[in-house]
Amino acid sequence: MMDRAALRLILLGVFLISASSQPVKKKQDVDIYSFYINSTVTSRYATTVITSRVANTLNESQEIQFEVKIPKTAFISKFRMTIEGKTYDGVVKGKQEAQQQYSKAVSRGQSAGLIKSVGRTLEDFKTSVTVAAFSKVTFELTYEELLKRRLGKYELLINAQPMQPVADFKMDVHIQEKPGISFLEVKGDLSTGDLANAIKTTRADKDAWVTFYPTRDQQTKCKSCGENGMNGDLLITYDVERQNPKGEVMVSNGYFVHYFAPSDVPRIPKNVVFIIDRSGSMHGRKIDQTRLALLRILSDLDEDDHFGLITFDSDIDTWKRELLKATKQNLENAKSFVKEIRDRGATDINSAVLAGVGMINRHPREGTASILILLTDGDPTSGETNIERIMANVKEAIGLKFPLYCLGFGHDVNFDFLTKMSLENGGVARRIYEDSDADLQLQGFYEEVAVPLLTDIHLKYTGGTNLTKTSFTLYFNGSEIVVSGQITDNSVESFTTEVIAVSKGSSVTYQDTVMIKDPSDVPPENEDFMQRLWAYLTVKQLLERQVLLKGQEKEDEEKEALKLSLKYQFVTPLTSMVVTKPQKDEVEVADKPKEGGEDPRPPVMGFRPSSRNPIASPGFSQYHFSPGQPGPPGPPGQPGLSGEHGWRSLGSWPAPPAAHPGFHGFDGIVMARYHQMPMIPWESDETVLPTMSVPTVRSNRFLLSAAGQSKPLCFDIPLPHKLKLLQDSASEFSMNGESMTRRKGFSQIVFHYKTNRRLTINTRSIRYHDGQNDVVFLWGQEPTQHSTEGVSLILRSNEMDVTMGNIRVVILLHKKNGDAFLWPAVRQQPKDVSLMGILVTVDNFEGKAEASYEEIQGSQTPTLKIMDQEVKASWEDVTDYTLLSTPVIRCWLVPFRTVMQGDISDFTVTQL
Ligand SMILES: *[C@@H]1O[C@H](CO)[C@@H](O)[C@H](O)[C@H]1NC(C)=O
Ligand SMILES: *[C@@H]1O[C@H](CO)[C@@H](O)[C@H](O)[C@H]1NC(C)=O
Ligand SMILES: *[C@@H]1O[C@H](CO)[C@@H](O)[C@H](O)[C@H]1NC(C)=O
Repeated sequence: MMDRAALRLILLGVFLISASSQPVKKKQDVDIYSFYINSTVTSRYATTVITSRVANTLNESQEIQFEVKIPKTAFISKFRMTIEGKTYDGVVKGKQEAQQQYSKAVSRGQSAGLIKSVGRTLEDFKTSVTVAAFSKVTFELTYEELLKRRLGKYELLINAQPMQPVADFKMDVHIQEKPGISFLEVKGDLSTGDLANAIKTTRADKDAWVTFYPTRDQQTKCKSCGENGMNGDLLITYDVERQNPKGEVMVSNGYFVHYFAPSDVPRIPKNVVFIIDRSGSMHGRKIDQTRLALLRILSDLDEDDHFGLITFDSDIDTWKRELLKATKQNLENAKSFVKEIRDRGATDINSAVLAGVGMINRHPREGTASILILLTDGDPTSGETNIERIMANVKEAIGLKFPLYCLGFGHDVNFDFLTKMSLENGGVARRIYEDSDADLQLQGFYEEVAVPLLTDIHLKYTGGTNLTKTSFTLYFNGSEIVVSGQITDNSVESFTTEVIAVSKGSSVTYQDTVMIKDPSDVPPENEDFMQRLWAYLTVKQLLERQVLLKGQEKEDEEKEALKLSLKYQFVTPLTSMVVTKPQKDEVEVADKPKEGGEDPRPPVMGFRPSSRNPIASPGFSQYHFSPGQPGPPGPPGQPGLSGEHGWRSLGSWPAPPAAHPGFHGFDGIVMARYHQMPMIPWESDETVLPTMSVPTVRSNRFLLSAAGQSKPLCFDIPLPHKLKLLQDSASEFSMNGESMTRRKGFSQIVFHYKTNRRLTINTRSIRYHDGQNDVVFLWGQEPTQHSTEGVSLILRSNEMDVTMGNIRVVILLHKKNGDAFLWPAVRQQPKDVSLMGILVTVDNFEGKAEASYEEIQGSQTPTLKIMDQEVKASWEDVTDYTLLSTPVIRCWLVPFRTVMQGDISDFTVTQL
């Protein structure tokens, strides 16, 4: 409404992209003719093999992609491609060695690749290979994990997303548990709709089989399925019988594992103090959800529990100075206190935790278990802010008497700090993902620690060696203690177990557990599972301890973890898997992303462009081969955006030019692809340009480029502001930005797309929420990319290239004199009429280059005539922040109203 007319007049000398080529038609030229997922769980150790067989049905070679999601907790242990009878195995190497190989390949211009990204529970494994005409390829991926008992059950999560309906799809799960399976349930979105009929569960005493053989037709009929086939999870939950309170020891091939989860002991009354961050950053949904979770948690306390509540920002408030019994009256009072919690102020973690420790220390109670739970969403910014000193203070105050659990809310927390502080104090850190279910996550965590059964647990193994962790502060109902090790000289006869722990103040001992020796019916493919289980657990624990250690000890343990990772071919944070492809010397490297977000090591590994001539295969077949997400079709008449294949194969950031014979540059390719849409070639013309660079800034200056007109226009918007930058109601797209308070640029830019996709960019990180999972990138990490249906994100060092549907925006991170700020540059927008926002400056420019303004000659002060309106203008400088080189140019500064045909308030939002 506003902008249409306004924009029409500011006409840029835009290259019109002629519609010379036909829209790319999607062909079904890749056939996934079989897709198998086989999972074998033996004594909680799960080994899953995914096998996908794909045929290139095209009469020319093309790139075929394999992409699967695996649980974060798992280690990949094998990857193999078989093409024309030849196999190509991934080899796990030390990270440095792999990196060298990778860099060498890159410097020779010989492509390398990324393979991973992170969601809440899943990681992405992705690779591709060029397959000759009418040839086939088999991909096979194996990963392993030890299932962890939580709230009384184990969960085996299997994701299936073959990207098209598959004629021969089979999922086979076999669970073998010696003590017997007490219950088993199959859930997940793949168990909905017609698909539910494809699931068959067979149970014997100690075994369970779950098969899932959906027909091609059924694969399009579930809650999360569509014409691209299935896309979802099966979640198999089960528990084992626990007749023997001493637990269960299994021995096999010189290794043992001890599962200890007694249920014959009474619960221990607990003293729990909740330390709740109410700093300003908790504003909005986070604080609402925290209140909600606390109210529910309070209702769950037992009457013989004692509890305390502390809220903190830069000030510390306690509900009551002392711990109080969870009586009805006290709980009612506490709930009133919780309802009044409001966000404000800074974050004094040090004083808050020390106050909590003091509260527990002043009330020693025999036969109870004490627990501190800290919930925070940010770094310490008030009081003591030195992380080392906070940790030292907390450690000294707690003195290992009880555990501290840290819950990190959202992505701005220093999760490494919280992890370290928890581990140092016998607890664990947990991430609470900022999402609609955050209150349930909080409550879920509380439930896990709600019923302490034992304290100070020590497990001893005579005749055992190379043991995993054997001392635990607390054992909670519904969890399980697992210890694995080697049996010295494999002499099972002299091997004994003993557990000493404290139950309600008195010591308890469990001795001589019954052992299950060398189970003969373990499937051959899982023969050495116990040894692998031991290796898995050892590596996990060694890696976890890394944050606690220093110097030689740290180095030694890291070496040990590396040694085991290499021996068992686990892709861990210390190793990478190198995949050499049939194309001569082409190398890809898969890395395990590190959990924890704000870490110097990027959570998502880099991706480098392929060296292959991006347009070598005629017809741009890279764009539309279909095992990758074909993506939802764009608006009518627009080719669908299958994004990543296109972007990826095209080499979207600079590679040695020599490696790109015939490389037409990104623009050319994109034009060919989006030929129907107007596009702004970004090196020459810009829609919107920015600001001045004085120390204290009062406004952001936006430039309206006018290449047809030699002198551009610009306008100012006073700070601070939250602006509607670009909105397209037709494609459910919006981009809003929050300015810095007293400095130029934006501190945060948020995209919303479709109903539930959200991209949040600040000066530290970039977070994409696809409705289910989060992916995080850090500015300055290795170049990387992420694509899901209709959305493509490409991160170069200081540029985040965002495509959502047919809108493409690049967010630039500018750093100057220690300041960092964001600036958006619209690279492409539909010529649709539903566009709104400050950045809608080119609307329909169908070659009708109307004059945008006239300079009125002969007046005293410079005057322009814009849309039949005369306005005073001044000749000013503006820095073009839509380019990394930030050139300063001159522009006619005119009032906002004149060019935008509306008040600034028409373009502001209250929430990003
Ligand atoms: C996986 O299961 C399928 C179907 O039951 C079977 O044919 C295949 O041999 C199994 N593959 C492996 C690697 O176990
Ligand atoms: C592939 O088939 C098309 C027609 O279906 C034909 O035009 C083209 O020349 C063929 N390409 C090759 C490499 O044989
Ligand atoms: C532990 O949890 C189980 C259910 O998972 C329950 O039946 C049992 O009563 C609980 N034990 C205590 C002491 O609360």
